[in-house]
Amino acid sequence: RRLLLVNGPNLNLLGTREPAVYGHDTLVDVERLALETAAAAGWEVRCVQSNHEGVLIDAIHEARADCAGIVINPGGLTHTSVALRDALAGVGLPVAEVHLSNVHRREEFRHHSYVSGIAEMVIAGAGINGYAYALRQLVAVLDR
Ligand code: DQA
Repeated sequence: RRLLLVNGPNLNLLGTREPAVYGHDTLVDVERLALETAAAAGWEVRCVQSNHEGVLIDAIHEARADCAGIVINPGGLTHTSVALRDALAGVGLPVAEVHLSNVHRREEFRHHSYVSGIAEMVIAGAGINGYAYALRQLVAVLDR
């Protein structure tokens, strides 16, 4: 009973990166929230952040061995990466897509996501709470 939490490029800068858009919480805060939210439901979380597409793809492939679902904020790769989408589709685990900001209220190029078409759910604009909502919902789906 384990989930994979994936954070993509530049999310290591959370807390200092464009705080007006992404808030003051750090990646450590995000991962702590995820671990606590999952633990409350009796689940574990493996956390991965990378600025490298291939590292993210490898982590997604490895999740097939021991994870039941994936929560992912793909960062900028959301809007560019067919390969990341193919990796998620390829492992066949349920996916929750999370964005801290409401990408639909921002630049046009952020309106399209390659991931949304294969995701169970998409949460955008709820800040770091979005990760907790996604985890709770994913766990609820998996537990039923
Ligand atoms: C983001 C939105 C993306 O457009 C952006 O490239 C990010 C973060 C978000 O969490 O709001 O890196 O995924």
